[in-house]
Amino acid sequence: MIASYQAQCQLRVNAALDSLFVAPGPELARLYDAMRYSVMNGGKRVRPLLAYAACEALGGKADEANGAACAVELIHAYSLVHDDLPAMDDDDLRRGQPTTHKAFDEACAILAGDGLQSLAFTALFDQRLTPQDAETRLQMVGALAFAAGPAGMVGGQAIDLGSVGIKLDQTALAFMHRHKTGALIEASVKLGALASGHADQARLDALQAYARAIGLAFQVQDDILDVESDTVTLGKRQGADIARDKPTYPALLGLDAAKAYALELRDQALDALRPFDAAAQPLRDLARYIVERRN
Ligand code: IPE
Ligand code: IPE
Ligand code: MG
Ligand code: MG
Ligand code: MG
Repeated sequence: MIASYQAQCQLRVNAALDSLFVAPGPELARLYDAMRYSVMNGGKRVRPLLAYAACEALGGKADEANGAACAVELIHAYSLVHDDLPAMDDDDLRRGQPTTHKAFDEACAILAGDGLQSLAFTALFDQRLTPQDAETRLQMVGALAFAAGPAGMVGGQAIDLGSVGIKLDQTALAFMHRHKTGALIEASVKLGALASGHADQARLDALQAYARAIGLAFQVQDDILDVESDTVTLGKRQGADIARDKPTYPALLGLDAAKAYALELRDQALDALRPFDAAAQPLRDLARYIVERRN
């Protein structure tokens, strides 16, 4: 069920994303190639899926969330390009291919990331992708800017890089994970919900509780997979966190307790969806998928 929903959403978001990488002239061909390379390369598209599923949970049509889906994936792709740079995690493999700075060069990867970040907001401005009224689009822009910025993802990345070799306690680790990964996952759900045009405060609050739980669960599972998956399945180097002495849930709690915690967070997410009807089924399936995924 989730596999076919995922495939359908991937096709939808990939078609919308593809339209964004058209270089305005030959001078910019390499920059646009690097941006396209960083996005059109087989990511799972979990954040777009969340945007589509949240939109549908509130009675919207999936297509209404195309702009939201593109925007969150573009921010995510930019964050990965920069995350892999030598000055950050220094990784050479992403989604089964050389990282952007390896396939192009470091300066080009930095600029491609910068470009992707701006394109995310362009997608919310573009009425072809985001047909909502101006006020809704402004709310979407604000939510995404906040989540991507220093009080969200960028802040989390700063804490991550400042914590190498330091043993964080569970509160500090949760704070870091909620920022570096949770914030954008929460924004994915919120933007999808706003795109539906049917977002009331009570249901936005319930969806936020759902997103907060799966946002943390997503990074807990990412940390678990770094320990127990393999490089081919992951499409990125297994063991990279251990090699760099990164603060992770398995390092803090041990593997079994980290797995139990991921399941506890999944249950919290499912609980938050109790007020919703069958239209929220993809969101429920996604909560399970996030802690069961193998890559
Ligand atoms: C990996 O994200 C980085 C994290 C924030 C944990 P994903 O696991 O969603 O990576 P892709 O997009 O499928 O490559
Ligand atoms: C990445 O976290 C989070 C962001 C890119 C914001 P990780 O560094 O754990 O992601 P991977 O494991 O390299 O995909
Ligand atoms: Mg990192
Ligand atoms: Mg990394
Ligand atoms: Mg990781």
